[in-house]
Amino acid sequence: MKVLVATDKPFAKVAVDGIRKEIEAAGYELALLEKYGDKAKLLEAVKDANAIIIRSDIIDAEVLDAAKELKIVVRAGAGYDNVDLDAATAHNVCVMNTPGQNSNAVAELAFGLMVMAVRNLYNGTSGTELKGKKLGIHAYGNVGRNVARIAKGFGMDIYAFDAFCPKEVIEKDGVKAVASAEELYSACDIVSLHIPATAETKNSINYALVGRMPKGGLLVNTARKEVINEAELIQLMEERADLKYMTDIMPAANDTFAAKFAGRYFSTPKKMGAQTAEANINAGIAAARQIVGFLKDGCEKFRVNK
Ligand code: 3PG
Repeated sequence: MKVLVATDKPFAKVAVDGIRKEIEAAGYELALLEKYGDKAKLLEAVKDANAIIIRSDIIDAEVLDAAKELKIVVRAGAGYDNVDLDAATAHNVCVMNTPGQNSNAVAELAFGLMVMAVRNLYNGTSGTELKGKKLGIHAYGNVGRNVARIAKGFGMDIYAFDAFCPKEVIEKDGVKAVASAEELYSACDIVSLHIPATAETKNSINYALVGRMPKGGLLVNTARKEVINEAELIQLMEERADLKYMTDIMPAANDTFAAKFAGRYFSTPKKMGAQTAEANINAGIAAARQIVGFLKDGCEKFRVNK
């Protein structure tokens, strides 16, 4: 059996070593395709792969067509919007993610962006502190929970909205559960986004919603760029010079954001919420173990396609 690690944005070496150990201990072969850039290289590499470990790499119908021997794809991470689930099901390929394995890394980066924003992008002027500020966590999944845990250490007043998480689960953590996204944005000085990119959420973070934020509002996005209605956010930030936007997922309109909103907009050059050795090890090794469990025992825990 051949397991391909196809990561345009590579894992830390220590994680690749750990993945190799798991795969080889199971008697399988590991192939590595990193920083491939060109899709043609991915199409070539998947030809004889029985299993693939990916990150944000796109697995679409064309890749699945090329991967004639493929049985399983594991997205080492949380969001699997980069995999065409219907095409995978049609090709009889199991798709899994590794929920929770990189969530602390993403949560920590959200705070890195928050501190950077309230300290005026470290330009030397007097900023503000996070302590005492109202933080809104938009979606209370694995990352949202880690954000809540860290926010307590900062002494923040924590709110959360999650349409799919019971109020009791949120409140058990000492977080105030609000009934709608509108209520969250109206109440909070800072909103940290942790929603997946789905048909329902794409473009949902728009003028009307962000426009509810109080004066000096800060939006932090370590989720997905697709959930932002960029044209409407640009319009809003033009009208409101007090609003700030920080992200690790570069917007399509990055040049416009950077030119118009210097000092209150920042994007990392690459998506890097999960880019830590710990997250790479956790998610990468979990992915390897899930592949071995699936190929040897038919275990389908964490399967996301039907
Ligand atoms: C995820 O969905 O797990 C995160 O967005 C991290 O994605 P990455 O592995 O591409 O950095």
